[in-house]
Amino acid sequence: MKQSEFKKRRQSLMQQVGKGNIALIASAFNQTRNRDVEFPFRQDSDFYYLTGFNESNSLAVFIPGREQGEYILFCREFDEKKALWEGAHAGLEGATKHYGADDSFPITDIDDILPGMLENKAKVYYPMGRDGELDHQILEWITHLKKQSRNGVSVPGELVSLEHFLHEMRLFKSAAELKLMRRAADVSCNAHKRAMQQCKPGFYEYQVEAELLHQFGSDGLRYVAYPSIVAGGKNACVLHYIENKDKLKKGDLLLIDAGAECDHYASDITRTFPVSGKFNSAQRQLYQLVLDAQYAAIEQIKPGVPWNKAHEVSVEVLTKGLVRLGLLKGRVSKLIKDEKYKQFYMHRIGHWLGMDVHDVGDYKLDNEWRLLEPGMTLTIEPGLYIPPNCKKVDAKWRGIGIRIEDDILVTKTGYEVLTDALPKEIDEIEKLMQAN
Ligand code: GLY
Ligand code: MN
Ligand code: MN
Repeated sequence: MKQSEFKKRRQSLMQQVGKGNIALIASAFNQTRNRDVEFPFRQDSDFYYLTGFNESNSLAVFIPGREQGEYILFCREFDEKKALWEGAHAGLEGATKHYGADDSFPITDIDDILPGMLENKAKVYYPMGRDGELDHQILEWITHLKKQSRNGVSVPGELVSLEHFLHEMRLFKSAAELKLMRRAADVSCNAHKRAMQQCKPGFYEYQVEAELLHQFGSDGLRYVAYPSIVAGGKNACVLHYIENKDKLKKGDLLLIDAGAECDHYASDITRTFPVSGKFNSAQRQLYQLVLDAQYAAIEQIKPGVPWNKAHEVSVEVLTKGLVRLGLLKGRVSKLIKDEKYKQFYMHRIGHWLGMDVHDVGDYKLDNEWRLLEPGMTLTIEPGLYIPPNCKKVDAKWRGIGIRIEDDILVTKTGYEVLTDALPKEIDEIEKLMQAN
């Protein structure tokens, strides 16, 4: 992503924050795994969106109209010893030279410098309630400033959540963002294809996961957007199954929900396919029903349509199908009203997708489902999960879990499926798997 894109975002944010106010946002911090070992660092998405700065222990300050510079970055000073052990870091000079900050200060001096920046500001915008430490620090800085109010310094009177502006911006993807999302989607399609081709009875779920990771890395994307779900047989009925530890059995389905991350942008794909390469009759019927529901839901995606429409359509198609197949009994309209479908379809149709896999952005405005607009990206992922111990249904259905998930861009006239390269028709899947 070019620096100019980050600059554009900062300018847009500053316009909304307005002169006389200040906005603060902190980076993510390194998380200890044990003793000297840390979890892999992932920058806070909001912070990265505005700064493109990928270091921990940093804080960005935006002061619209400040003569000495509007964008200030607090970060770690360059330290040769640190560079030797941990690798390159920008330092104060790098922050201004390479990351577009107007000014930079050592993060260790923040308590001395920041209260002065809050002086005479009316509102402080920040991601309220997300980082307890920052919440606490801001109150400390304000308290510090209050003590000086006798000297004629005025103290901010309002603390305001920054998320409203920022998340509205993040909801609409620019061409540069879509480029990264397309790459994440393409690589993830390759990985799912590889998993379908390599899968065989007797493999363990984690071995299939290894095939996914192999493809992500080979295609240049090291990180996953979320822990991969590789769920054979009834494990697919556990919605967030990430243990990935069981042996795959002939005759079972395998549900894989996995996506790579490309420069902080996610993809999120689910496919369900037979471990042995051939659907049995019950699996085929339920699979086709979920696929029909997915197509019908995707068809709803266009500007001006309320967010919830796709969900409603998926509920309708799935409920009708469940009655036709004998898993539900009764009148479709009554079953929908009584939410009987929820025993088999207990999640919603999808979510916004972007830097975070469950991305930011309001789903409702003034208590009404929001209307879709071009540039929004979302997933469409209906599923059916028949509990293994569900005595009410014929034994042939029990323990089957199916989800089909694609990533969708709302265009000016309708939609584009970003993950279209990955087969999902029964015949296509069987053909791909048998080609091995
Ligand atoms: N992978 C999480 C989800 O599909 O929402
Ligand atoms: Mn998913
Ligand atoms: Mn999803």
